[in-house]
Amino acid sequence: MHMRILGIETSCDETAVCLIEAEGDFGPNFSFKTLGNTLLSQAKLHEEYGGVFPNLAKREHAKNLVPILQRTLEEAGELKPTLMPTAGAVLLPLKELLAREEELFKALVPFLLTYEKPKIDCIAVTYGPGLEPALWVGINFAKALAAVWGVPLVAVDHMEGHIVMSLVRDGKLAETSFPLLALLISGGHTELVLSDAFHTYKILGQTRDDAVGEAFDKTARLLGLPYPGGPEISRLAAQARERGIKGDFTFTRPMLHEDTLDLSFSGLKTAVRHLIEAREMSDELKLQVAREFEECVADVLVAKTMRAIEEHAVQALVLGGGVSANTYIRERLREALSEADASAALLAPLPEFATDNALMIALAGYFRAREGQYADPATLSAVGNLRLA
Ligand code: KG4
Ligand code: ZN
Repeated sequence: MHMRILGIETSCDETAVCLIEAEGDFGPNFSFKTLGNTLLSQAKLHEEYGGVFPNLAKREHAKNLVPILQRTLEEAGELKPTLMPTAGAVLLPLKELLAREEELFKALVPFLLTYEKPKIDCIAVTYGPGLEPALWVGINFAKALAAVWGVPLVAVDHMEGHIVMSLVRDGKLAETSFPLLALLISGGHTELVLSDAFHTYKILGQTRDDAVGEAFDKTARLLGLPYPGGPEISRLAAQARERGIKGDFTFTRPMLHEDTLDLSFSGLKTAVRHLIEAREMSDELKLQVAREFEECVADVLVAKTMRAIEEHAVQALVLGGGVSANTYIRERLREALSEADASAALLAPLPEFATDNALMIALAGYFRAREGQYADPATLSAVGNLRLA
């Protein structure tokens, strides 16, 4: 029996909606198809703030969710003008549900009056972690659709979404065995998570201050590069390596030799700032800093990850989160794994699905729905600091 899941993601600065059809349990019989998938990044709008500005994110999600839903359903062949106009009364609960999102309400009502309910079985929505104002828009939108269309809701942990995204390949599950270690590295998170079985998690280590992506973004800002900074730094660092450009300075590898799997990145950002203040900015210096910064981050991530793999007899290393799009970090991890005695497989998302998207939410939501883990719309709330364990 297949299920159709509509996934909604608004935890940060990506507004995304995806419709999938999936069947089977977590195992070799699982398969899925993506029927429609739309994503709108607000990164350009947040650029002048050098990071995500929560209220702007909220407003943009509210403005864009209906058009993005519409495009997703259209791509899936599920956007059908209604033959039997929905009685206005059906829409009454929406007024209350979307009391704080008037713009969304005004766009959603004509949409619901124009198109019939698409063939879907369930709506999966991110409820954390993330920016609460941004999360709430997606959650209220999901509640409104679920109420009008009469389908259940699933609440998805964004970080589980990143993990599940790395476990699929070509519409199937990649071959994996437990325990898995997930290295989750994004703009808001830096965690090493052990999973002994599907849906069970233990946090082995995490950042004590800035997230890795945050360090990339802040360093990029110091270098006068646009937001998001990760891809920019990575581009310059690759160029520096290619051209053999290396600075006459090194940054201390934070917490490398401390007896813990925790990490720390705020000192690194400060080191970059001090260096830049002491020197004259030039294109050459930018290349040098980008390279040294990226290699410093990679050294620490590789060391902590390999230590966790050895300590816990890990079978597969799962990469997730926006920073896992970084090819240099991926390569370094791949290299370390092939050199290590413990042979763990590397599972990374396709680069275009490394950063936030709604496919990962639909997929994670599917497995929760399979287990009957539906959310109560009356109590479902945004949890900004949600933790996997
Ligand atoms: O997972 P994500 O899309 O959103 C959060 O949940 O935070 O991650 C976004 C983060 C940003 O900090 C961005 O700079 C970083 O991922 N990022 C990268 C790369 N692509 C995105 N960092 C390093 N190298 C990249 N290629
Ligand atoms: Zn993310």
